[in-house]
Amino acid sequence: MSDAPMPDTPLIETTTKWVLDTYTYNSLHMVNSLEWLDRIAPGSPEAVRLATLTHDMERAFPGPDQPLWNGDEDYAYYVAHSNRSARIVGEWLRGQECAPPFIHQVEELIKVHEFGGWPEADLVQAADSLSFLDVNVDLFLGFAKTGKYRPGQVKAKFVYSHDRIRIPWVQELAKPMMDRAIERLEVR
Ligand SMILES: [Fe+2]
Ligand SMILES: [Fe+2]
Repeated sequence: MSDAPMPDTPLIETTTKWVLDTYTYNSLHMVNSLEWLDRIAPGSPEAVRLATLTHDMERAFPGPDQPLWNGDEDYAYYVAHSNRSARIVGEWLRGQECAPPFIHQVEELIKVHEFGGWPEADLVQAADSLSFLDVNVDLFLGFAKTGKYRPGQVKAKFVYSHDRIRIPWVQELAKPMMDRAIERLEVR
């Protein structure tokens, strides 16, 4: 695997700027997810890279239709969160005058980013999971500390992020990351 970074297209560059400017409190996870995708699947098509870079964007747009996570692994929440992100990113891409079939492809990948389902969707989901275990652990340890979520809920989130990965070798890669996160939760 080469260490050379993936060259970014103008659309990826503009979208990265949108993510950084808009999702100010957790854009790191978005940008880091794309870095993980480029590690596990270098040379991925632009739609896959773009879906990975923007998969959680609805969280940057509070509103009355925004689903709220109650701390449990709730399928209905993840569906609503994924669909809302797909809608917001689709609107963004229409504003960038992207071709409708391309926009559709990105939307479909975002709709299943929590679940996977076909090879490219599994990559987006795996990159999200790796990045969660890479850069979101401190955020969730903080939630356990402040009591926003119970330690059991935070642990379940760490386990979920590992267990849902559908690509066996990537799940193996995530295993020590999950173990370390749980260890830190238990000794905190
Ligand atoms: Fe998500
Ligand atoms: Fe995510």
